[in-house]
Amino acid sequence: MPLCILRNIRKSFFIGQEEVEILKGISLAIDEGEFVALMGPSGSGKTTLMNIIGCLDVPSSGEYIFAGQKVSGLTDDELSIFRNEHMGFVFQNFHLLPYATVLENVLLPTLYVSRKKDSEPLKRARDLLKLVGLEDRERFKPSQLSGGQQQRVAIARALINDPRLILADEPTGQLDSSTAREIMDLLQSMGHGGKTVLVITHDWETAAYANRKIHMQDGLVSG
Ligand SMILES: Nc1ncnc2c1ncn2[C@@H]1O[C@H](COP(=O)(O)OP(=O)(O)O)[C@@H](O)[C@H]1O
Ligand SMILES: [Mg+2]
Repeated sequence: MPLCILRNIRKSFFIGQEEVEILKGISLAIDEGEFVALMGPSGSGKTTLMNIIGCLDVPSSGEYIFAGQKVSGLTDDELSIFRNEHMGFVFQNFHLLPYATVLENVLLPTLYVSRKKDSEPLKRARDLLKLVGLEDRERFKPSQLSGGQQQRVAIARALINDPRLILADEPTGQLDSSTAREIMDLLQSMGHGGKTVLVITHDWETAAYANRKIHMQDGLVSG
C-alpha cells in the first residue's frame, strides 16, 4: 500500500502582487519502505514539494493522502501533531539548536508529542545516539562536532518519534564525499529497517542509494 499519494498537487506563491505557480500539478505515490531520490535543477520545486509531503506546508490545490489519512482536511494544529508523529526531517545545514547539547537536540521532538508512558524518551535518545555512533558525545554542543557528526545528531533527532517517513533535503550538501557516503549509508540502513526515505539531491552518487529516482523540472515530475 502506498504511504504517500499525491493527486494533482499545485502550489502557488505570491511574489509581490503576482501569483506564481511553483508546482503545476504533481501526481505520484511513494510506497512504504521505498528509498526515493528527488532530483532536478535548482528552482524546479523540490523543496516546495518536500515541504508539502512532510506537512510543513499545504498545497494550493490537489489531494494529499498519507498513511490512508487525507492530510488536506486537517487544521493547522492537527497538521503539526500529525507531522511530529509521522515525519522526521534532515536538512542540509543540520538545523541543530546551538545552545542545546547533543542529547537535548535529539530529545527536542519528544517535547511536542504526548506519548505512551512506557516510551522512555531518554533511553530511546541514548539508543539512537549509539546507533549513529555518538554515544560518547551526548553532552557536547553542536559547534564541538564535525559536520558529519552534526548530521548524525540530526538523523537521531529525526528518528526519535519513530516516524513513518524520513525527509532529507540535500543532507550531504555540506559534507565531503567520504562523509557524505557515511551519511547515505546511515539513511540507507534506516530504509533497510523499514523506514520510507525521501532524499532531495542533485548529486548522482547520492541518488544512487535510492530504489527510485523522481526527476522534477519546472514544477512538474518529468519521466
Ligand atoms: N515561500 C515562498 N515564496 C515565494 N516563492 C517561493 C517560496 N518558496 C519557494 N519559492 C520559489 O519557488 C521556486 C522553487 O523553489 P524550491 O522548491 O526551493 O526549488 P528547489 O528546491 O528545487 O531548488 C523558486 O523559484 C523559489 O524562489
Ligand atoms: Mg531546495
